[in-house]
Amino acid sequence: MNILVTGGLGFIGSHTVVELLNNNYDVVVVDNLSNSTIDVIDNIEKITSKKFKFYNIDVCNYDDLKTVFKENKIDSVIHFAGYKAVGESVDNPIMYYENNLYSSIILCKVMNEFNVNSLVFSSSATVYGIPKSLPMKEDFPLSATSPYGTTKLMIENILKDISISNPNFSPVILRYFNPAGAHSSGLIGENPKGIPNNLMPYIMRVATGDLEELSVFGNDYDTHDGTGVRDYIHVVDLAKGHLKAIEKSMNTSGVKVYNLGTGVGYSVLDLVNTFSKVNNVPIPYKIVGRRAGDIASCYADPSKAYNELGWRAELSMEDMCRDSYNFIMKQKEAKN
Ligand code: WQD
Repeated sequence: MNILVTGGLGFIGSHTVVELLNNNYDVVVVDNLSNSTIDVIDNIEKITSKKFKFYNIDVCNYDDLKTVFKENKIDSVIHFAGYKAVGESVDNPIMYYENNLYSSIILCKVMNEFNVNSLVFSSSATVYGIPKSLPMKEDFPLSATSPYGTTKLMIENILKDISISNPNFSPVILRYFNPAGAHSSGLIGENPKGIPNNLMPYIMRVATGDLEELSVFGNDYDTHDGTGVRDYIHVVDLAKGHLKAIEKSMNTSGVKVYNLGTGVGYSVLDLVNTFSKVNNVPIPYKIVGRRAGDIASCYADPSKAYNELGWRAELSMEDMCRDSYNFIMKQKEAKN
């Protein structure tokens, strides 16, 4: 089976490509390298000892994307490509709406022209907005608290509308909680360009000494230690969930939605202390004010994915911390 992976050189995309290749899928990756680097190709091939096709194109480019479908018989698509920084989306909503929506519309248009009906879409728990209760279930009310979240919600609605017009269309929507960790080889992982927005990559840069200390955004939330609680899920567990989603998409029609989380919430200080203990490295931090748009607690009810996909997270917070540190240290060694 030939799987097209948009954004396949990115953090979650690259880990998913590894799992696809290890499970004997053929893979075609399209990526415009806006938040990834070309050396990820070699690292994926080192991990899997397998090759895959790569096109350096933008999914927004209809002609370029059509060429990919002309040159390759695509059986299913996993759509990761898109901007994903919440704060950046508030500052630059037009860039987010244009890129995230237009790329998804062009993808669906070309898929329709080539009668490709199997799609796995990278959505986010952010579409739940401020949850009415916890843990969060797929039938919870949906809302968005940032332009980034709004793009995810709008794309989900586009997929639902296409399913009504085309009964054969089979999108599986995956709502990620907080991806973290790295492949155990240390060859691929999360290494955003510039100053990290997210907690784990920021801690990683403090651990290596690149950044002086972590700013903890508030310790006055209604949580066990006052700091924000999130459902961190190992990126390898997340990647494996996509393979289950492809199987589901290929064998059913109509829209399916699943939370991909562990069902367990960890606070900022839980993560800081675990990272420091597991890797025997100090993580200096200071408590500062809350970050605009943050919610106190967010964690999944992952039972639907278990019952319908046969998937659940298996790796621990300790694994995420160990693998993240292993990756960032290998990156540092490779630079020196
Ligand atoms: C986690 C916790 C912060 C940084 C976002 C998106 C979500 C997904 C993951 C794309 C919070 C605290 C963070 C720091 C801190 N993105 N924090 N200091 O905001 O839960 O989710 O990223 O799919 O859609 O909404 O993740 O890692 O930014 O924050 O104290 O320097 O860490 O307040 O409690 P978030 P995060």
